[in-house]
Amino acid sequence: MIPQSFIQELLNRLDIVDVVERYVPLKKAGANYVACCPFHNEKSPSFSVSPTKQFYHCFGCGVHGSAISFVMEHQGLSFPEAVEELAKSIGLPVPHETSQREQETRAAHNAGLPEMMLQALHFYREQLKHSETAIQYFKKRGVSGEIAARFGLGYAPEGWQNLAKVFPDYAQSQALLETGLIIENDEGRRYDRFRDRVMFPILNARGNVIGFGGRVLGAGEPKYLNSPETSLFQKGQELYGLFQARHAIRASGRVVVVEGYMDVVALVQHGIGYAVATLGTATTPVHVQKLLRAADEIIFCFDGDAAGRRAAWRALENALAALTDTARLLFLFLPEGEDPDTYVRQVGQAGFEANFANALTFSQFLFKELTRDLDLTTDEGRAKLVQSAKPLIEKVAAPALQMMIRKRLAELTGLSTAELTSLMPNPAVSRPQESQSRPSQNRSPQVKARRAPSLPRQLLRMVLQQPDLARGIQIEGLDDGGSDERMLLAVLALLNRDPHITTPPAILEAFRGAPEEAVLSEAIGETWAWDGEFDLAQEFQGALEQLRSSARQKRIDSLLALAKTQTLSPEQKQALTRELSTGRAS
Ligand code: CTP
Ligand code: MN
Repeated sequence: MIPQSFIQELLNRLDIVDVVERYVPLKKAGANYVACCPFHNEKSPSFSVSPTKQFYHCFGCGVHGSAISFVMEHQGLSFPEAVEELAKSIGLPVPHETSQREQETRAAHNAGLPEMMLQALHFYREQLKHSETAIQYFKKRGVSGEIAARFGLGYAPEGWQNLAKVFPDYAQSQALLETGLIIENDEGRRYDRFRDRVMFPILNARGNVIGFGGRVLGAGEPKYLNSPETSLFQKGQELYGLFQARHAIRASGRVVVVEGYMDVVALVQHGIGYAVATLGTATTPVHVQKLLRAADEIIFCFDGDAAGRRAAWRALENALAALTDTARLLFLFLPEGEDPDTYVRQVGQAGFEANFANALTFSQFLFKELTRDLDLTTDEGRAKLVQSAKPLIEKVAAPALQMMIRKRLAELTGLSTAELTSLMPNPAVSRPQESQSRPSQNRSPQVKARRAPSLPRQLLRMVLQQPDLARGIQIEGLDDGGSDERMLLAVLALLNRDPHITTPPAILEAFRGAPEEAVLSEAIGETWAWDGEFDLAQEFQGALEQLRSSARQKRIDSLLALAKTQTLSPEQKQALTRELSTGRAS
């Protein structure tokens, strides 16, 4: 454990502008510094770093955080790794709370799930070196040592309990069972899930090992065996290769999505570094969201057969709600009988990329499929087209694109756009703009604040803006009914307890990993728009007094309600008198 006080000291000693500048060139813009966001693809800068707040924030994709979160996200490091890295950069040794000895026993007996997955990865990689057959398998498939290392490819040897060598508590550990690396049968006997398979580790966006895919070396069923869903691994949310591809995606502004592990490995081997794969599932809305956060252009690549077309259609359906007007979705179908792996080996990088020009755009693929079995020369055929297109078009979240598609539908059916609108009302007209789920780049602070924040939320924002406001505030007498109230009280308590905490990032870091982290992080994002050095103190006192008196009123009301049904105890009477008199005094 790294002590909290050290985290605070580290944040106090660092300047976030220096930290970000090590990775991203910044330009001064008013009180802040700006750059094109390193976490999503964009052409004009919406990423900004505030030296006064010691925070970064992106108006385009919504990321924000402290110097520590920046290094975690940008370098794909875990929290302790990022702290180490930052501390090293200013020559500060990182203290650890527990003794060396305690740490060792803990590591041996209670390694967390991610740590266990990493140990398994090391084991499988080591085993690959000792298995001539497995090495030959990868060689035969054209995988170089360098690519094998990049993907952490390995080999799970034959035998039932090889992992017992790695985990001394193989027979007892509940955590080991939870990793999905081993299976327990009805008699309580445990055995390795992956045996005699080449292993593909699956990493999350941070680079932690969260699962594995294992392939048989020859024929055999099932061809691929995957980790089960665990607390670490939800396959509908993860993309194989995304972590390794992050730099290439950023550099090229595009990502190609394929179906198989070997497809990704082969594409990367041939110079297409921006390849990722879904994990034996259809592309989900979460996948599309993640992909669009990484790049504006997504090329879905499918086999040229009927199954490939069905999979592409599923991807299209699941992308509707995530579409934006800056996104470009392409659907690429390979020649029958080819998959990206076999195809890129034939045609190479340039040949493969040349095909992108033949890919169908979102709307081309949409209409191609919708009209597949229809006769558009008949009224009935055109009517059917409107009916089948309607539910899909209504889901398209990108307003301009939706309009184009409506126009195209009107052309195809020979209806005027007005006639079409009478059949399917145009939400872009009837619905207010901000129902768009994605934060828009130039949404002003005023628009953002329209959702009338609750009083405790407003107070929370003020405290996050100027933590000193909250020093020495009495917490008693405030209500902790809602999540904003609880969050506010927790922050006030923290500030009272720890005089070293003086900045918003320090507050956020104090709650890292706690249930409050999400609410807090969101509230910090909301404060971003208020720059300028105006004085919040008076506003803060006023709002606080309002909150106090509404809590008091609640207590009075409930005592009065109680008094209607029963006689109040002497304590309750006293409380009522006290509350009523404070109310009058203020
Ligand atoms: N898959 C799976 N379970 C299977 C078969 C396939 O999870 N029994 C997933 C794997 O992620 C696999 C992908 O679906 O990579 C594509 O499967 P398939 O086309 O059958 O295999 P390839 O990727 O072509 O595998 P290979 O080239 O190794 O034969
Ligand atoms: Mn294949």
